[in-house]
Order: sequence, then structure tokens, then C-alpha cells
Amino acid sequence: MNDQIFEAVVTTVAPDGKPHVAPMGIRYQEGGVLLMPFKPSTTHDNIVATGHAVLNIVTDTRVFAGCVTGRKTWPTRAAERIDGVRLASALRHVELELVERRDDVQRPVLRMAPVHEAMHAPFAGFNRAQAAVIEGAVLVSRLHMLAPEKVETEMNYLQIAIDKTAGPEEREAWGWLRAAVARHRAGGEERTS
Ligand SMILES: Cc1cc2nc3c(=O)[nH]c(=O)nc-3n(C[C@H](O)[C@H](O)[C@H](O)COP(=O)(O)O)c2cc1C
Repeated sequence: MNDQIFEAVVTTVAPDGKPHVAPMGIRYQEGGVLLMPFKPSTTHDNIVATGHAVLNIVTDTRVFAGCVTGRKTWPTRAAERIDGVRLASALRHVELELVERRDDVQRPVLRMAPVHEAMHAPFAGFNRAQAAVIEGAVLVSRLHMLAPEKVETEMNYLQIAIDKTAGPEEREAWGWLRAAVARHRAGGEERTS
């Protein structure tokens, strides 16, 4: 059986104080939160260096689409109990400390325990376009290993939810993803010609 995975945004800070934002699949297990950042990753290095991270629950999917299309700077606020930042757009954030590190050459597991959390805005309900943007962001983050036909077919299917249910944030996010796919395709054609 698979682990249940939730897509969230992890904010960390480097030892020099520079904030870092990354979408990440998280597992609520073992009484805390398990993060599995691929190596190499700034998120991994920051958590190992500082011992802390912030889990952000967001429905503004521009953060997901933005981070995989080169838009990595998002408004943040200071965390309350740890040296760190949360996303300004977080509906809820959880401040985490590193309690166990299961190292691995490729995919280490970082077990994090909550030390503080706060709610900032209510959850409005499921929006299919938000789900489509998340799926599209996963596709875009894997463009280098997916067949172009698969990307095209899946993006066209996801487009239905965008056309029927998107608001302005999802439309903007979707535009970034479509542009990234087009850029990748153009780059590939350039290389083969
Ligand atoms: C929905 C979604 C889920 C992701 N989940 C993970 C994850 O669990 N682990 C990971 O290493 N990267 C994940 N990524 C990719 C990272 O966000 C991205 O590669 C990021 O840049 C991590 O590396 P960094 O910390 O160096 O920025 C995910 C991306 C998306 C769009």
C-alpha cells in the first residue's frame, strides 16, 4: 500500500538567513512530519544546518507552479517560535524541528516534530483547477524525463479543469506551466535540428 502524501510548501532558511521556498510531498507519520527531499537540495541542506523548517498549507497554487518555473521568491513572514519564515499566503503553518535524520545518497528522510502552529485563513473547499495546477507542476518538474506526447496529453486533460473552474491565480499559474512546456519543447527541437 502507498503512503498517503500531501502536497505542501516547505520554507527554510540558510545559515546566512536567506529564505528558501520549495513545494514538497509530505507524510504525516510517526507522530510528526516526514520530509523526503532529493539530494542535492537546498531544503535538505538548510534543515540539516539549522535543524528547522516550516510547513505551509497553501491553496494559492502559484507558489507550486512558480517554484518549478523559476519564480522562487514569495512573500514571507517571520516564524513565531523558531528562527525561520512562513509563507504570507499560508492558510496554516507548522513550525518544525528536526528530530531524526535517516540519511541516504539519493532520498534521505527527515523526521520533523511540530513545535508551534497557527491558522491564518479558512480552507475554502476543493478547487479542481488548483489540483490541475499541482499535477501540471509535477509534470513540468519532470519534463527532462517524460515523453513529450505524454506531457501534451496530460496537460490537455488538465486544461479541462482549468477552463471550467479556475480563478485568476490558477489561470496565472497555468500560464507559467504552459509557457515552460513550450520553452522546453522549443529547446528540444533546437537541439535536434
Ligand atoms: C507538487 C510537488 C511536490 C514535490 N515534492 C518533492 C519532494 O517530496 N521532494 C523533493 O525533493 N522535491 C519535491 N518537489 C520538487 C521540489 O520542489 C524542487 O525540486 C525544489 O527545487 C527542491 O529542491 P531545492 O530545495 O533545492 O529547491 C516537488 C515539486 C512539486 C511541484
